Amino acid sequence: MKTKRSRSLAVVVSRSGAIALALCACGDQSERGQMPQPNEQPRASVTRATFGQLPDGTQVESFTLTNQNGVEVRAITYGGIITSLRVPDRNGRFADVVLGYDDLAGYLTETPYFGAIVGRYGNRIAYGRFTLDGNSYSLATNNGPNHLHGGIKGFDKVVWAAEPFERADDVGVVFSYTSPDGEEGYPGNLAVQVTYALTNRNELSFEYYAVTDKPTPVNLTQHSYFNLAGDGSGDILDHRLTIYAGYFTPVDSTLIPSGAIAPVTGTPFDFRSATEIGARIEQDEEQLRYGQGYDHNFVLDRADSALAHAAQVYEPETGRLMAVYTTEPGVQFYTGNFLDGSITGKAGHVYQRRYGFCLETQHFPDSPNQPEFPATILRPGAEYRSRTEYVFGVIP
Ligand code: GLA
Repeated sequence: MKTKRSRSLAVVVSRSGAIALALCACGDQSERGQMPQPNEQPRASVTRATFGQLPDGTQVESFTLTNQNGVEVRAITYGGIITSLRVPDRNGRFADVVLGYDDLAGYLTETPYFGAIVGRYGNRIAYGRFTLDGNSYSLATNNGPNHLHGGIKGFDKVVWAAEPFERADDVGVVFSYTSPDGEEGYPGNLAVQVTYALTNRNELSFEYYAVTDKPTPVNLTQHSYFNLAGDGSGDILDHRLTIYAGYFTPVDSTLIPSGAIAPVTGTPFDFRSATEIGARIEQDEEQLRYGQGYDHNFVLDRADSALAHAAQVYEPETGRLMAVYTTEPGVQFYTGNFLDGSITGKAGHVYQRRYGFCLETQHFPDSPNQPEFPATILRPGAEYRSRTEYVFGVIP
């Protein structure tokens, strides 16, 4: 049943995209913006360039993925960070819809995980502690008493090896990194590959793969902050969000799940039909107080681990639509509550509170300490595999 739903909605998204392209071809020159003309469609491609240098001299490269519709994704080897993502609106006008910095220095100075690959464990592990096969492990704590997003130097702050590819159906880049035994306190050498790919159907996918030589928790995700009206254009409270989740995992005041799987019915966490992000965000409700807004893991409605439609977001002014598909059981919906105007990002944009949202597909936070949650332990001989797609379209 879930698979059926995901297929039919996928068609809606791609059909909307197709309608937008058709409209665009009929409009006048100015309305077309950067939209390619019908018979001069560019070939999908990936190009490679130098982005910057770490203080120790390590080169950081950027890869620009472009599809036939002119959609363009730029990602760098530092943290696998998506530094820009340009998609058309309903009139064919392109805008960059992710938050970030213009240059490497910004990402090195201070970043709330803008655009990055997050690991070894996305989200929090209580007190940075867990036991596994009778052994106790102590991880770096970097978020109050807790471990967050892989620790002090997580996968968002390492330089990944990168191999670009151009295939018949997509273009992309494979990022690889081997996390050494003991890194940030985690057991085992963990070899990780994350493949970014862009198709001509405006699908941006992330395929995660990992193997280990000792049992270890693994929970990888992508931490892009989106604003479908365009980076720096204001807050995201008017975006309309749907999350196909009948349950969520309530947290304590340090954002560690209590262990409960709570129904969303009758709460501000019910996004099963499209609702403005801002409609209930200021309600005086304990969970919203703890998160200072939404910063919660939603338990996706799904029967199995096949790719399923998890969420979609629509921005009414521009018509831009983003659908999220994943094989993961959960998604962390975060409304940029900790952005406070102290970061000046791309093109001088000052990022105020709630100027971006994240939909981080994942296993549930603190799973190594929550026996009732889906397991996150990868063992030698097994393979970690996970896939997420962000699909872009418009509603005319
Ligand atoms: C995740 C967390 C948030 C916050 C952001 C990064 O979404 O759940 O609490 O730490 O990352 O700022």
